Amino acid sequence: MTFASLPKVELHLHLEGGAPPSFIAGLAREKHIDISGIFREDGGYRYRDFAHFLTVYEAACTTLQTPQDFHRLTLAVLEQSAAHGVVYSETFLSPDFCGGGDVAAWRDYLAAIADAAAIAERSMGITLRGIVTCIRHFGPDQAKTAARCAAETAGGFLTGFGMAGAETVGRPGDFAWSFDMAREAGLRLTCHAGEWGGPDMVADTLRDLAPERIGHGINAARDPALVERIAEAGVTLEVCPGSNVFLGAVASWKTHPIKDLRDRGVRVTVSTDDPPFFDTTMTAEYDRLARTFGWDEADFAALNTTALDAAFCDSDTKARIAKLLEAK
Ligand code: ADE
Ligand code: ZN
Repeated sequence: MTFASLPKVELHLHLEGGAPPSFIAGLAREKHIDISGIFREDGGYRYRDFAHFLTVYEAACTTLQTPQDFHRLTLAVLEQSAAHGVVYSETFLSPDFCGGGDVAAWRDYLAAIADAAAIAERSMGITLRGIVTCIRHFGPDQAKTAARCAAETAGGFLTGFGMAGAETVGRPGDFAWSFDMAREAGLRLTCHAGEWGGPDMVADTLRDLAPERIGHGINAARDPALVERIAEAGVTLEVCPGSNVFLGAVASWKTHPIKDLRDRGVRVTVSTDDPPFFDTTMTAEYDRLARTFGWDEADFAALNTTALDAAFCDSDTKARIAKLLEAK
């Protein structure tokens, strides 16, 4: 069976990472930018490993130059998500790629993205909210700039603040100023950790940045005491199994710790991360989880209830989305 029509909540999706390669190739042609090296012969993105993935990702982003480009991107990404039954999605947005940290420019980009989201809500029945994300390997100073952008535009469409990028750079505490600023502006917090870093990275992230959700967090599974703490604290993990297997963070679907974490009481959710980069979709994630662990519609319904509970939107929006999940 396929789970395409099952209503879904997705919490972890990078907007630029959702860009279909044909969309980026089209923009590159329009703007006469030569990034032909980032594409495979079959049209998909080409990269060797995670470090190279980040380089290719940033090369693709050079084609996204104006608020109008992001308007088009948002519609293209949401069309894909809606086709896979996603009714509510949260997406990571980076001021670094949207005006380079200038607050006035960022406002224009954000307005364009929010406008496209409103159009998609009316025409495709999918609701989107934004999470500003700083990029770890751009360093703590640039993270502060992203946090200032986030704080200036907090509320409504913009619900959260987080951090993505190379986990090997610096320690979580280096970014505490930015997370504190976002928290004080009323934004909810999430942070990538434990995708490449070990349990200590997850523990330090929770201690120094105090996010309520962790992006990935899978390597926490190596430390039973930490797993117990995460379960007890009710921290939600945004798990992206297809991404982890494709990038080699986990050896195989069979050995992916998502089931183990769930069995040990951790609030796990399922997302795609950067779907065209990993040849995945929300439907494909559910199909693989069903085949690997025997999860069925009831399991996925429970995952989606957890995801909606952990979503950063307001309670009226949650109530509306809950009805869509129940309607199934
Ligand atoms: N940015 C986009 N995808 C990412 C991932 N899987 N990990 C860290 N940063 C990212
Ligand atoms: Zn991610």
